[in-house]
Amino acid sequence: MTPLPLVDPTIRIDSHLDAAHERGLADDVLDGLTRPFKELPPKHFYDERGCELFDAICELPEYYPTRTERGLLERHADALAAVGGGAAELVELGSGTAAKTRVLLSAMERRGTLRRYVPFDVAESVVRDSAEALVREYGGLRVHGVVGDFERHLGEIPSPREGEPRIVALLGGTIGNFPPGSRRRLLREIGELLGPDDRLLLGTGLVTEVEALEAAYDDSAGVTADFNRNVLAVVNRELEADFPLDGFAHVAFFDRRHEWIEMRLRALRPLSVLVGALDLRVEVAAGEEIRTEISAKFTRARVADDFEAAGLRLDEWFEDDDGRHALSLAARVRD
Ligand code: SAH
Ligand code: AVI
Repeated sequence: MTPLPLVDPTIRIDSHLDAAHERGLADDVLDGLTRPFKELPPKHFYDERGCELFDAICELPEYYPTRTERGLLERHADALAAVGGGAAELVELGSGTAAKTRVLLSAMERRGTLRRYVPFDVAESVVRDSAEALVREYGGLRVHGVVGDFERHLGEIPSPREGEPRIVALLGGTIGNFPPGSRRRLLREIGELLGPDDRLLLGTGLVTEVEALEAAYDDSAGVTADFNRNVLAVVNRELEADFPLDGFAHVAFFDRRHEWIEMRLRALRPLSVLVGALDLRVEVAAGEEIRTEISAKFTRARVADDFEAAGLRLDEWFEDDDGRHALSLAARVRD
């Protein structure tokens, strides 16, 4: 663990990535690009450029999840801040630029209980930048950022102070980026962070009209296409590969059987790519596709079932008037 040098005493940021993370990318590329059906995990989208592109996606007219979730947070902020009699701490997994987080922090501040924010993200720059911005915006707020992979480093999240309830949030539909088994494993591990008065706040996209879903992942300005191709830029830079970004088309479709969006990159011509750092040659046939993301959409029953399988209990459910997005509050079931 490398504590990053920061002068502000209200900010602490611990990084758990470095070389191990690079190995993570190398292992994922080696696994994913030597399979009969090629695949890269979505967490590798998020270098600095990837975070910028994701923020641009959130502003697109077609990408309704961010706006809808923000509306729900605004509508229910006071109820959410009342967790445990008044939440003192917000731990946010996959916090990104923490744009919507301010709605919750402000509600906790109004209630007079806000003490600490713990952003957790694989992208170091967003954790650092949001920490610096938030301590300026909220007087007395302490920020303890964790740069890590929430599939490996949840144990690095600082413990809460005795008697101070906390919200652990996973917003934006990020849970949908995990396939069902990994999703339940992650929820179980997140549950282990919850004391009796704490709650998980989960944001999930809901199953809705296919046209709206597909447009959200295939916008007319081509920002999502750039975001999708950015994973190749990351592999090129980090692992000395030579993927031609213009050799791939962006593909996004709703898989009705699994009820998830799939994003893929389809090769426009036969390609022979060298991943120099791995001494790996990857042959990609014309028309062959690399899956880069799933984004599962939920029903209330599916969320409740996943919670139950993960040792959690759905306590509250808030959804928007169009039934496109939901926020859930869940408690850990003690054995
Ligand atoms: N919560 C924000 C951002 C969502 S984008 C919102 O709702 O708008 C998903 C975020 O999760 C990105 O910032 C990405 O860097 C982070 N992320 C993705 N996979 C991760 C992982 N395995 N560990 C930690 N952070 C991850
Ligand atoms: C971060 N995650 C929840 C986004 C999603 O909707 O699955 C990432 C994204 N992919 C394409 N557009 C946005």
